[in-house]
Amino acid sequence: MLVQLQRALSRSLSSVVYRVALAMKPQVIFVLGGPGAGKGTQCTKIVETFGYTHLSAGDLLRGERMREGSEFGQLIDTYIKDGRIVPVEITINLLKKAMEETMRLDQQNFRFLIDGFPRNQDNLQGWASVMEDKADVKFVLFFECSDQVCIDRCLERGKSSGRTDDNRESLEKRIKTYLQSTRPIIEQYQQQGKVRTVDASRGVDQVFADVKALLDKEG
Ligand code: ADP
Ligand code: C5P
Ligand code: MG
Repeated sequence: MLVQLQRALSRSLSSVVYRVALAMKPQVIFVLGGPGAGKGTQCTKIVETFGYTHLSAGDLLRGERMREGSEFGQLIDTYIKDGRIVPVEITINLLKKAMEETMRLDQQNFRFLIDGFPRNQDNLQGWASVMEDKADVKFVLFFECSDQVCIDRCLERGKSSGRTDDNRESLEKRIKTYLQSTRPIIEQYQQQGKVRTVDASRGVDQVFADVKALLDKEG
């Protein structure tokens, strides 16, 4: 009797341990859309309401560019001005480190918004080889709006952002990169039924109302 009780207890304990381990596996939403579509703005609102951790690949790259002693500073600087996608070895390392650090500080923080990634085939392959078995991608949150809206918003942001790529010359290249390299990635996910599209051409609060409804349902 006692032995049976012990076995039952041990079984239920290991199932709890298993469930906790599963729950701790990072849960990821990729956030994509053209430059200036409002990814960062909406991510900030999602963090406030749903408690995700927001990691912007662009912000991480800009941070690495500024880091004293970084061997990649110059390369990142050039790529960003040219609106080109930095080799994934650099980006995936920054993302992996940021995710590990977030979870090390608080194990409850295992839900991530990864903003501006994967942006091309190289990004996708880097994720597959380094992160695929370490994190679950729930879906891609896609902020859709016209190129003109993207350009207007970036030029407006450029008045105060201090960014080296919020100018007409860089923007032309960024839009080209988006259309040639990022859209096919979104289409790939679309074919797997993994894209949730939000009309990002409206006001911030209207866009967020849709985002909130979506995350209430499946976040
Ligand atoms: P992304 O991260 O996609 O490049 P941001 O969130 O930084 O875009 O937004 C780009 C610029 O557009 C910012 O100046 C931001 O304040 C503004 N913006 C964001 N969302 C909207 C919106 N729905 N309507 C108008 N302006 C917006
Ligand atoms: O997303 P954000 O607009 O901040 O990205 C700015 C730039 O950072 C991109 O145009 C690109 O040069 C670089 N980047 C990248 N790889 C990513 C995300 C951003 O090279 N996955
Ligand atoms: Mg951004």
